[in-house]
Amino acid sequence: MLLDYYNNRRSVEEIVNGPRAVFLNEMFSAKSNFLIMGDNAKALRALAHHDDIKGKVTLVYIDPPFATKNEFRIGAGRTSTMSRSKSDPIAYSDAIIDHAFLDFLYERLILIRELMADDASIYLHIDSKIGHYVKIVMDDVFGRVNFRNDISRIKCNPKNFDRRAYGNVKDMILFYTKTERAVWNDPRLPLDGSDLTNRFNKTDEKGRHYATIPLHAPGETNGKTGQPWRGILPPAGRHWRSAPETLEALDKQGLIEWSKNGNPRKRMFLDESAGKKIQDIWEFKDPQYPNYPTEKNLEMLKMIIAASSNEGDLVLDCFAGSGTTLLASHELNRQWIGIDQSEHAIKVTKMRLESSLATGSKMEVKVFSQIGTTAKRDEKLASQKNLPSRLQKYAA
Ligand SMILES: C[S@@+](CC[C@H](N)C(=O)[O-])C[C@H]1O[C@@H](n2cnc3c(N)ncnc32)[C@H](O)[C@@H]1O
Repeated sequence: MLLDYYNNRRSVEEIVNGPRAVFLNEMFSAKSNFLIMGDNAKALRALAHHDDIKGKVTLVYIDPPFATKNEFRIGAGRTSTMSRSKSDPIAYSDAIIDHAFLDFLYERLILIRELMADDASIYLHIDSKIGHYVKIVMDDVFGRVNFRNDISRIKCNPKNFDRRAYGNVKDMILFYTKTERAVWNDPRLPLDGSDLTNRFNKTDEKGRHYATIPLHAPGETNGKTGQPWRGILPPAGRHWRSAPETLEALDKQGLIEWSKNGNPRKRMFLDESAGKKIQDIWEFKDPQYPNYPTEKNLEMLKMIIAASSNEGDLVLDCFAGSGTTLLASHELNRQWIGIDQSEHAIKVTKMRLESSLATGSKMEVKVFSQIGTTAKRDEKLASQKNLPSRLQKYAA
């Protein structure tokens, strides 16, 4: 049973206080960007004990392995999403499966939550084979009330699968916030020609294009918005969108259009429109010539970062791969922290960041490599304590 993790999981205290990474140089600061090479649980624990970083992260995007049992290889000068050549080195192995995978993810999500600010968001990218179980783990860690969206991401063109099933062109992104106060910049899509012909197809006396929308919304109320306005009751099961005095003011400004049979609708002008609300089906196909296996779409990351963080905020990706999140953060003037245990991932990320043309500036990427854990250090200290005092100074 996949959800066994639930009965066997460790307590939050045990997870947070487990062995933490010790780095060659511990000079982290939330004011600088850095990459960490090593296991993310130990690295996240080290960050969670750092005052500059704990509770300071505004946005997390993670794209962990999907429990597929695949080995992802990387070929020199010939990168494809999945290199089939056995002679190519392994970039990373996706070997943890079933309930061990949910446990693996649960522990990392607990640590990530420690790092998130109260106005932070998390986006978790996963496929639909394991994703529904991961949704339960996310509910467990972040609370069902903080679930925002299950986004279907169209990842590729339609394919002729041999399987006796429909083709699979999507995966999923689970979007949660830590609290109700999360940063939200409400990104919009620009209007296009079809909006002019299909939606904003009316013109007023000044030639301005407009559309109309109902003045009422679903749900009955006993308050002012449930009462008749100008003798008209909202339709059954609905209420006026605004109180009668606001509706009067809108009408005085010429913002209400009355149909021939006396039905009022609100005018929305094309030249005042902020664009179209983005919905929960996205098309951001994976790059055709990736730098790294399973590399994600840079424009998608830019949209996520612009929606859920502001300039100067700290962004974390602890399954950084080729550093797509870090590159997008850098180009949008966010601070970032990336973690990955694959040396190929670190190499590709460094190369992509250092040659980012968009910022026009050459940057040096600081890489911290894990050289041990606090468990090893504690063991060593304990063994030093057992030495006769005259020898302890030589023990380090
Ligand atoms: C799906 S890839 C991420 C791809 C990335 N989103 C991109 O655009 O390139 C997952 C990454 O997680 C890393 N990873 C897996 N387990 C890890 C762990 N325990 N600690 C650190 N990194 C890990 C792998 O090395 C791999 O690079």
